[in-house]
Amino acid sequence: MCGIVGAVAERNVVQILLEGLRRLEYRGYDSAGVALIRENNLSIVKRTGKVQALVDAIDEDNGKGTTGVAHTRWATHGGVTEVNAHPHYSHDRFAVVHNGIIENHKYLRSELTQKGFEFVSETDTETIAHNIAANMAETGDLLQAVLTAVKGFEGAYGTVVIDKQNPNEMVVARSGSPLVIGLGIGENFVASDQMALFPVTRRFIFLQEGDVAKITRTSVTIIDSDGNEVEREATESNVQHDAGDKGTYRHYMLKEIYEQPDVIRNTLKERVTTDGLTDNLFGPNSDVIFEKTNYIKIIACGTSYHAGVTAKYWLEQYAGVHCDVEIASEFRYRKSFVPDNSLLITISQSGETADTLAALRLAKELGYMSSLAICNVDGSSLVRESEMSFMTKAGTEVGVASTKAFTTQLASLLMLTISIGQQKGMSSDVKSSMLAGLSSLPTKLEETLALSDEIEDLAEEFADKYHSLFLGRGDQYPIAMEGALKLKEISYIHAEAYASGELKHGPLALIDADMPVIVVAPNNELLEKLHSNVEEVRARGGIMYVFADKESQFESDETMRVVNVPNCKDAIAPIIYTIPLQLLSYYVALIKGTDVDQPRNLAKSVTVE
Ligand code: F6R
Repeated sequence: MCGIVGAVAERNVVQILLEGLRRLEYRGYDSAGVALIRENNLSIVKRTGKVQALVDAIDEDNGKGTTGVAHTRWATHGGVTEVNAHPHYSHDRFAVVHNGIIENHKYLRSELTQKGFEFVSETDTETIAHNIAANMAETGDLLQAVLTAVKGFEGAYGTVVIDKQNPNEMVVARSGSPLVIGLGIGENFVASDQMALFPVTRRFIFLQEGDVAKITRTSVTIIDSDGNEVEREATESNVQHDAGDKGTYRHYMLKEIYEQPDVIRNTLKERVTTDGLTDNLFGPNSDVIFEKTNYIKIIACGTSYHAGVTAKYWLEQYAGVHCDVEIASEFRYRKSFVPDNSLLITISQSGETADTLAALRLAKELGYMSSLAICNVDGSSLVRESEMSFMTKAGTEVGVASTKAFTTQLASLLMLTISIGQQKGMSSDVKSSMLAGLSSLPTKLEETLALSDEIEDLAEEFADKYHSLFLGRGDQYPIAMEGALKLKEISYIHAEAYASGELKHGPLALIDADMPVIVVAPNNELLEKLHSNVEEVRARGGIMYVFADKESQFESDETMRVVNVPNCKDAIAPIIYTIPLQLLSYYVALIKGTDVDQPRNLAKSVTVE
């Protein structure tokens, strides 16, 4: 989603800004722009499309400045046009970039229009630029002008303002959308994500909700939401930006699919042994909190939500604790009941998803006993605001469609199930079987990846299809949901997932030879039921693609193609069966020629609701 980079220095900052934008590119965007101040001149360059188009448009004349802001925009208000791209400006003097949504922008627009301001774009952000220009006429001080302006904003913003008449400063404000200040020597920076600034600094101040800050080359002044000047601690970041390049892989997504055995090894390392799990693995006192926990609520979005649904099956079956899972955007806007001793668990790759963060904040008000974030980004807002946190060690995930982040979430949630189960009297047999399953995971994943050629071949049959149906039962139902999400995200084929038992309650009406049915059928107590579901589809002329192990006794024939997945223990089966579905969507997308790593209309980190 949108990205921000800003700098105030003695040197020309244009390359710092452009490199920062490149590092945020994978998050998804549709236009990019930069504003630079040099000797009281303001130049703004914007382009739709990729950052490279912006780079190509920058030359000797417009590419110099010692203070500047840059932005990648993911359109919310107003179409994808150069005019709507950021930075926005007012009076040819102030330039503004903004992440988030100013919800009362219509009201602000009409108020400012009455005052004589002329709007050129359709965006909510332009109201910020004119608002600051209006306040500046009264206060003459940029920091004061921003402090006054934010009082009138409703919604979410991470915003950076520069003024050509005050060329040695930036003023930034954060509410609902992250901003981090990067500290250099004789120069300072700001960004929506620390990763954008790694080439220039590792020292950061994370702004808190409601903070407004003035940044010069040598100083940072922060005013908190109560209007008091505050000191915020600077921290040294040890976050690894290890995305590297694609190597020999054609896409990041494929690279990330193949990284799964290794990143799961990392996620398990020094946490799981054959004897058990490290004490208090999920944070200080987590074992005591788990012992007290009577009810678990899991909150997440998208793929992370699917990890949560899988965990519900595990937590209730193996740990014997009541668990519900809810989509963050639903939870945050309804009244919910909180039983005593409830634990809130959020799951997020980025740790910056607006709805998940809002749900966490709401849960605190509702009186949850404690909160645990399962997250891939250390130092993210979700991690910082939760009482306990547990890092999935997937490394940087660049492909917009989540793969390795999902399977490391699942491995972490299996560890959580054992950890909670231990406090709830899980039998030693169940525990050792789950531990053995976890330890076998990396090797089983390697064996499963060897199915790649067979799945690539099968993908040919999907290339001319418009719709598809994914079926699973028990803890494989969320895997079917995740398989359907992957296929629609990157191949743009409509895909729906159903718990197989629901077939005859409606979706069977859809079955014909043009609607491929994908079945995940591990060999467990539900296998017989799945066999019956497969027969129901066959009787209606459906074409099936079944992922099952050899003992499941599915045979390929003219209406059914069976791909044999390695045998594995029950608990880890959802993780193993995820792999063929990821590969299937990847190869279908490849045949269809879509932008696999940055599918249309999607963003990697959804920082607005
Ligand atoms: C799908 C995908 C999204 C994310 C969702 C939540 O491939 O990546 O559905 O899972 O936007 O994002 P996080 O996990 O960062 O909170």
